[in-house]
Amino acid sequence: MLNVQRDAPVTLEVRAGSRVSTISIGEGISERLPALLDDAGIGSRRFVVSNPTIWRLHGAVLQQVGHAEPILIPDGERHKTLQTAARIYDTLIRAKADRACAIVAAGGGVVGDVAGFAAATYLRGVTLVQVPTTLLAQVDSSIGGKVGVNHTLGKNLIGAFHQPTVVAIDPLLLKTLPRREFRSGLYEVVKYGMIASRDLFDRVRRESKAIFARDPEALLPAIIESCRIKAEVVSADERESGMRRILNYGHTIGHALEAVTKYRRFRHGEAIAYGMLAAADLAAARGALAPRDRQALADLITLLGPLPAINDLSAAAVVEAARHDKKVTHGRLHFVICIEIGATTVVDDVTEDELTAVLRGMGLKD
Ligand SMILES: NC(=O)c1ccc[n+]([C@@H]2O[C@H](COP(=O)([O-])OP(=O)(O)OC[C@H]3O[C@@H](n4cnc5c(N)ncnc54)[C@H](O)[C@@H]3O)[C@@H](O)[C@H]2O)c1
Ligand SMILES: [Zn+2]
Repeated sequence: MLNVQRDAPVTLEVRAGSRVSTISIGEGISERLPALLDDAGIGSRRFVVSNPTIWRLHGAVLQQVGHAEPILIPDGERHKTLQTAARIYDTLIRAKADRACAIVAAGGGVVGDVAGFAAATYLRGVTLVQVPTTLLAQVDSSIGGKVGVNHTLGKNLIGAFHQPTVVAIDPLLLKTLPRREFRSGLYEVVKYGMIASRDLFDRVRRESKAIFARDPEALLPAIIESCRIKAEVVSADERESGMRRILNYGHTIGHALEAVTKYRRFRHGEAIAYGMLAAADLAAARGALAPRDRQALADLITLLGPLPAINDLSAAAVVEAARHDKKVTHGRLHFVICIEIGATTVVDDVTEDELTAVLRGMGLKD
């Protein structure tokens, strides 16, 4: 894995269709945002969208990017709605923002998704810049162009593909992130290790203490490697017709766990941690994954910290929820399994009995 020079930002690219997104990753990069956006040719009418929590902590730095007052949306997943997008449109219309304006989403996945959705739809699409402030957003949601909002009947049901022109990732912004939020993002880093990089997996294990301490020397390479994997996969398959599916490793069961607990019990990454364990158990039961690798994943997840309990949940309810996940096409459950740490395959012959047995094995009730 690359050794990173701490003072020079690392640049990655996502190429999707004719569009190129530039991802700049570097310590302290958020303080140089105005120049970074100038260099990228982004117009000077920049509307920052954020939330009051982030603004209180990082507003002093982030406000340099905006040309006007920030658009602050309420904090929390339950505000990732069309109503919140409408509030963003209101401000833009009142300010007579034209097609040359840019929206700068400064926040976690919620701000990024809803502000990104507003950018995708306002005047049929304006420039989007992502300045992710959670680990989950830095390694996952800010990259790849998926934007959207929830509907009362389901998560992320309304959305679009809208690639950000620039993604600026500053690990120093993570210093203020609560430990549980940080850990939630770290499980997605583990996911990248499982699907594409044994090196990254080992690094998280080896340097977990320094990573938790947000020591840039340990954290920065883990973020860069995660972003590199996501950028590569998205460039190969923007619309998720094939390869991008591997990013859903752990997400079939993870999403089902989130749904059966009404999105209240788990942070997203925590549910994915269980989802990865389930996928590893399933692969091991089929003889597709060595028991040693399955155990390495279980050990790493234990090392990273406690997860909410699952033994009161019904395996049948979780399987039923998995069946309703968006990843079902033509009635077949696509399931990403890891065949060794760093390599995956997609199977579509997973039976409900097989899933139920795995979940029972993890301690869920009937
Ligand atoms: N678009 C995609 O490809 C994609 C991928 C994965 C997840 N998502 C979406 O991302 C969302 C989850 O994102 P998230 O986990 O970042 O949650 P979040 O955006 O709700 O942020 C978590 C909490 O951390 C706070 N916070 C953010 N930055 C902070 C900082 N630097 N210091 C202190 N507190 C800070 C937020 O205010 C919030 O309370 C979900 O809606 C999910 O659907 C989207
Ligand atoms: Zn995820």
